[in-house]
Amino acid sequence: MINLILCGGSGTRLWPISRSLMPKQFARLFDGASLFQRTVKTNSRICSAQYIVSNAEQYFLAKDQLEEVGANDVRFLLEPVGRNTAPAIALACLGLDPEDIVLVSPSDHVIRKAEAYEECLRKAEEFAKKGFMVTFGITPTGPETGYGYIEANGEDVKRFVEKPDLETAKKYVASGRFFWNSGIFCFKAATFLDELSTYSPDILTAAKIAFANAKKENKDALVRVDHEDMMNIPSNSIDYAVMEKSAKVKVVPSDIGWSDLGAFDSLYGEFDHDENGNNINAKHLGIGSKNSLVLGGQRQICTIDLDNMLIVDTPDALLVAPLASSQKVKKVVDELKARG
Ligand code: GDD
Ligand code: MG
Repeated sequence: MINLILCGGSGTRLWPISRSLMPKQFARLFDGASLFQRTVKTNSRICSAQYIVSNAEQYFLAKDQLEEVGANDVRFLLEPVGRNTAPAIALACLGLDPEDIVLVSPSDHVIRKAEAYEECLRKAEEFAKKGFMVTFGITPTGPETGYGYIEANGEDVKRFVEKPDLETAKKYVASGRFFWNSGIFCFKAATFLDELSTYSPDILTAAKIAFANAKKENKDALVRVDHEDMMNIPSNSIDYAVMEKSAKVKVVPSDIGWSDLGAFDSLYGEFDHDENGNNINAKHLGIGSKNSLVLGGQRQICTIDLDNMLIVDTPDALLVAPLASSQKVKKVVDELKARG
């Protein structure tokens, strides 16, 4: 099985830790290790090779981090600009043997139960060999609107709905018939390309041209896609372009300790708390402060009577917000960009 790691996202809801030159998946959030490194480590237990699809700007960063974890048989496909996940996966699959089984992993997730995950991957591999596109279903804990929803009947998928509105998500969760889509997929390279040619042929056609024109180095272990060719590929996610439409989808229910570290509130849940419910990863003096997430560096941070707050201190930017407003951090990034 080949691990196709998607790490081209920008992770704006974790600003100012996640920046355009240091997206969240490469930030060393866990005792010096990044989410990207943790993903590689978890998956190399079962995958014989790593295929990294990332933005060209992060090539050296990714390469250095891979060397630290001692990954072997590594290939790279470098995008000059991101066009979302469907083009990224298509380009990578075009560089593989059609019979290769591909495990698509996002690089910004945490999986706590490695053994249960391995078992799920084995089941998925069997379905993939038979020509199915496999998703990993997570039991929902609330009506999140940032996820895909999978209506299942056993392992058969009745429908896949990407990012429903809140009312719909509430109904789905209440029905008990839906899983969240974990964003991890498993299929044969040929199955994905076939389904893409059926449901989003414009993406496949443009991706084929981009792959053919791409510069290939190190015996094809390094593929650099041209900017204009990349821009000619319609931008879309695998979820909208293929998964919502395909009739060949299976789901493996996955109790694997999964979380998507999309925003600071989920990061708060991921770290250990002190006796006051604080999550401190900084030089911090708190007087009466509780239930807060404080991230920083060398600078002394002092807080008084803080409750349910978020402080993220970096050398050139400081963020202060109620922890419950974590999802709004993206707005800060959009506004800062708009102001240049
Ligand atoms: N190489 C590359 N190029 N990678 C990309 C690009 C791109 O243009 N865009 C996104 N990625 C990477 C991100 O870094 C992340 O690791 C992964 O692909 C998924 O992209 P997101 O942008 O984070 O997707 P999402 O969170 O909105 O939705 C997906 O994940 C959810 C679970 O976290 C969907 O699959 C949902 O259905 C799912 O529930
Ligand atoms: Mg995501």
